[in-house]
Amino acid sequence: MVRKARVMRVSGEPGEEGVVEAARVLNAGGLVAFPTETVYGLGAVGLDADAVRKIFEAKGRPATNPVILHVADIEGAKRVVAEWPEAAQRLAERFWPGPLTIVAKKAAEVPSVVCAGLDTVAVRVPDHPVAQALLREVGVPLAAPSANPYTRVSPTTAEHVVRGMGGAVDLVLDGGPTAVGIESTLVSVVEDPPVVLREGMIGVMALREVVPDVQSSPSPVVLGDDRAHPSPGLAAVHYSPGVPVRLVEEVPDLVGGGVICRGSEVGAQTRATVRVLPDDAEGYARGLYSALHELEAIGVTEIAVVAPPRAPGWEAIWDRLRRSAGSEEGDDGQG
Ligand code: TXA
Ligand code: MG
Repeated sequence: MVRKARVMRVSGEPGEEGVVEAARVLNAGGLVAFPTETVYGLGAVGLDADAVRKIFEAKGRPATNPVILHVADIEGAKRVVAEWPEAAQRLAERFWPGPLTIVAKKAAEVPSVVCAGLDTVAVRVPDHPVAQALLREVGVPLAAPSANPYTRVSPTTAEHVVRGMGGAVDLVLDGGPTAVGIESTLVSVVEDPPVVLREGMIGVMALREVVPDVQSSPSPVVLGDDRAHPSPGLAAVHYSPGVPVRLVEEVPDLVGGGVICRGSEVGAQTRATVRVLPDDAEGYARGLYSALHELEAIGVTEIAVVAPPRAPGWEAIWDRLRRSAGSEEGDDGQG
């Protein structure tokens, strides 16, 4: 029988039972899934190479794909980097805690397994009371990729984590559904000017308000999984639910299929199972992965996503939709 994950409900109050227990499991070298404002992370003590290796095993993630270190505040971030340029400081002051990850030169004490052998490290300060309470209770950086099996859709609820990871995780902290719904924006300050490596709900325009010359993400190049990826959009694997996803222009009639559309598109006759998302980009991002997970769990044969607006604010959503649909633009190894 498959071992089931242990789940504890938490709200993020200091000293809460679930948070204390999670810190105990982590300090003993275990894996704990916890909510952030973006998606659930699969955490291990980030300075413990053996613990971090367990993350890669549990996800089936290639050792060539580095993971993010989560810290409680800017001071915590500075302890895991060797260089902290002015641009990093400005971005951190403006957007942390929040859905922004900064890639900088790594400090010597960060184990190379975290960075997949690169000389850089990705670090962020999550804006979620449970993640914050946990980081403060543990007192060390937590390495945490999204808590999904490699190439599958990131989890936005504890239930998604349990279904995807099963007993491969020692404890799941259930803090309810996440607010942002897609992964953080990733920006490298190793280059000058800084460059966006993965789009997120903090768009390039917002970043440019504090660092005017930030470069938008380079067009993805497809590489194999045989070497460390200099940036995240580069692995020849898809990032998708277990069923085929395609983008369509209007609600199709699909027997046995699933459809994801926006409120303003409802009304068309279809025999598909329909999941309706809000018309605004923030609401759409918040609900997208849940809709994909639900349709997958129901057992639909395919998922048709009605193309959302090609408008400012929707860039990161388009990035994830292309990855899910596996178009040539969307190959990715973010896992
Ligand atoms: O919102 C998020 O970022 C979530 C939550 C849990 O914090 N985490 C997340 O982690 O999405 P993950 O591992 O699924 O995606 C991290 C991405 C990967 O594409 C990885 O290649 C990239 O960040 N990355 C990590 N370290 C890097 C580095 N040193 N240089 C370039 N890219 C890096
Ligand atoms: Mg991921």
